Amino acid sequence: MVTATTAKESEATLIGRSLCIRSLRHHLLRLSGYDVNVLLEGESGTGKELVARLVHRVSARRDGPFVGVNCAAIHESLLESELFGHEAGAFTGAEQATVGFLRAADGGTILLDEVGDMSESLQSKLLRVLEERAVIPVGGTQPVPIDIRVIAATNRDLARAVEEGTFRRDLYYRLNVIRLDIEPLRRRREDISLLVEYLLRQVATALALPVRSVSPAAMAILMAHDWPGNVRELGNVIQRAYVLGRRPVIEPEDLPTDVFGGATEAGAEAFAPLQVALRDHICLALEVSNGVRSQAARLLGIDRKSLWRMMRRFDL
Ligand SMILES: Nc1ncnc2c1ncn2[C@@H]1O[C@H](COP(=O)(O)OP(=O)(O)OP(=O)(O)O)[C@@H](O)[C@H]1O
Ligand SMILES: [Mg+2]
Repeated sequence: MVTATTAKESEATLIGRSLCIRSLRHHLLRLSGYDVNVLLEGESGTGKELVARLVHRVSARRDGPFVGVNCAAIHESLLESELFGHEAGAFTGAEQATVGFLRAADGGTILLDEVGDMSESLQSKLLRVLEERAVIPVGGTQPVPIDIRVIAATNRDLARAVEEGTFRRDLYYRLNVIRLDIEPLRRRREDISLLVEYLLRQVATALALPVRSVSPAAMAILMAHDWPGNVRELGNVIQRAYVLGRRPVIEPEDLPTDVFGGATEAGAEAFAPLQVALRDHICLALEVSNGVRSQAARLLGIDRKSLWRMMRRFDL
């Protein structure tokens, strides 16, 4: 629910060779010099918290605290006092004053996970904090100055929530200074084998077991699965194979049935047709390059003319 560590504790690295991961690395590098708020969008388990920690780690705030709060996991009635803190006696049961997560992140970074789940009244209060750089604890009257960087994360389309009127537009603009999108794993299958290799080593270390490998047949299944739970699901599958399997090589039968079972028929479907993948890849390159074609062509390793021809072919 809540995670607080200093930057030094988190030694995680961002694994992957897809354009999405490479562009994230590039953005991390660029972001390191700027103390701006960041909005992270991506499905559950795609690595939003990992990226948030990296944004913190490369920033000038790296020696300050990193506090992660999952807004969807805390009941609405509690979230306000958890975030803003409260004075002693502010409400029944509030014997002692608390500082709250926002002040706990003073001098550092706060990750507000599932920010789209915040009630309208909390959205307004958060907006005031960002505008005034001060927090008023529940039951208090005096604003307490704070210096925080906010990284907001969401697994839904926040822009749509704004259009639908469930998320405040002004708060959206405050949070969305830089937006980073993390693609679902099924749209960057080229990351799967690297992640498998990385997770095999990580899980072995965590369970104090010798490192295992994955047979080509099992790898083909892992590559073809749709991974609705993204990298987290992949990590769980590897962990399960270590715990339940005995052999040094992980085989298809060591994989859970929802991954292995449907693989024979689903394998073909799970792969996007090459033309679709190609179009997606070109779109992403253009997005990362802010529409600058020469830059997109360079990223894709082709010349501008070829890019232009493909854009025409795909009606981009
Ligand atoms: N590119 C990556 N390289 C290495 N590890 C990754 C990568 N992406 C995700 N992970 C790992 O996968 C797990 C899930 O990632 P994380 O908790 O950051 O996802 P999330 O997007 O915050 O999920 P949720 O929406 O459910 O909160 C973590 O253990 C994280 O370290
Ligand atoms: Mg998360």
